[in-house]
Amino acid sequence: MDFKLTEEHLMIRDAARDFAKAELLPGVIERDEKQEFPKELVKKMGELGFLGMMASPEYGGGGMDTISYVLAMEEISKIDASASVMISVNNSLVCWGLDTFGNEDQKTKYLSKLTTGEKLGAFCLSEPEAGSDATSQRTTAIDKGDHYILNGTKNWITNGSSADYFLVIAQTDKEKKHKGINAFIVEKGWEGFEIGPKEQKLGIRGSDTHSLNFNDVKVPKENRIGEDGFGFKFAMKTLSGGRIGIAAQALGIAAGAYELAKDYSKQRKAFGTEICNHQAIAFKLADMHTSIEASRHMVMKAAWDKDQGQNYDLSGAMAKLYASKTAMDVTVEAVQVHGGNGYVKEYHVERLMRDAKITQIYEGTSEIQKIVISRSILKD
Ligand code: CAA
Repeated sequence: MDFKLTEEHLMIRDAARDFAKAELLPGVIERDEKQEFPKELVKKMGELGFLGMMASPEYGGGGMDTISYVLAMEEISKIDASASVMISVNNSLVCWGLDTFGNEDQKTKYLSKLTTGEKLGAFCLSEPEAGSDATSQRTTAIDKGDHYILNGTKNWITNGSSADYFLVIAQTDKEKKHKGINAFIVEKGWEGFEIGPKEQKLGIRGSDTHSLNFNDVKVPKENRIGEDGFGFKFAMKTLSGGRIGIAAQALGIAAGAYELAKDYSKQRKAFGTEICNHQAIAFKLADMHTSIEASRHMVMKAAWDKDQGQNYDLSGAMAKLYASKTAMDVTVEAVQVHGGNGYVKEYHVERLMRDAKITQIYEGTSEIQKIVISRSILKD
């Protein structure tokens, strides 16, 4: 068994680390405070190839493996989890979904712009009354021959007002339940498509989260992804990979907080010595390091499963469940190691603690991951 990363993997990891330190770190506290979406930085991320890492090169993607993607996600999340959620949604939900299930025309028209950062994508599944229970879609798309008429509301949509292209899941035939659900590509600016107010969030405040309203929006039939009735499977398959990205985000948040806590403990003195020399602190660091390392192995295993063409529903769900708990536990401890300074914005750990919570909620709560895991282990 070879745990060594290739030269290429190390280069990608270092490029993401350098970008995060040089470009994301300087304004991260201000963006969190003002809930400001970093439009220019997103453009830069596109130019550097972070927005379409795994997508096919013929559509402008980087053609990289999932290991490369999670390495970049970890590094960027150490510094700015708001930036990494944009990367995650655009890469693993929108680009991967279109690259894998879109047709030639859809890839040429939409994917080739999403991979380069020219356009940004959003994934619209959640609704006011359909978060975890994704089959209960109330948004409807009625077949009118050469087009569908879309009506409904989507909630908590990442990149909500900044995205240009939206993958929207909607019910086309209620009788057929999940087999009567479809996925559509919807463009910003189409008549009847309204962007709701920005959500005021606890964490990942530099990302842009909105509800979306569709009032008789005309969607051409050629914008349906896959065969009629494929929408629910499309969402499930796409989210399965998305969960690996969020697991990597959680890992990065934990690792970022741990590194700050470790550095701080080597400088801060109390009772006549650096606080890392007290077992109360050293044991915390040992626990943090151990759970981060375990998370990293799980994230890598899930990414490797995906790269090997193996089923990754189980390994991805386990990685997300474990890494997101680690992110929560480690960030709370990182604040504790910092004492009073941990409660102050300039030390970064309080933001990472607030950011960590969402990793236990989006792309399936921890309870949803346990459903996926228990169904998988009990089926044989
Ligand atoms: N791959 C392929 N097919 C799958 C699948 C997968 N991973 N998971 C389920 N399916 C299929 C099943 O095989 C079944 O198809 P058949 O009837 O043909 O066999 C069908 O989908 C229905 O499956 P279930 O009966 O298992 O469905 P369920 O109603 O019990 O729900 C669930 C399963 C796992 C709980 C699912 O509803 C779920 O994942 N919910 C959470 C939704 C979620 O993650 N939302 C996040 C929103 S997106 C987001 O957060 C993005 C962002 O902005 C950051």
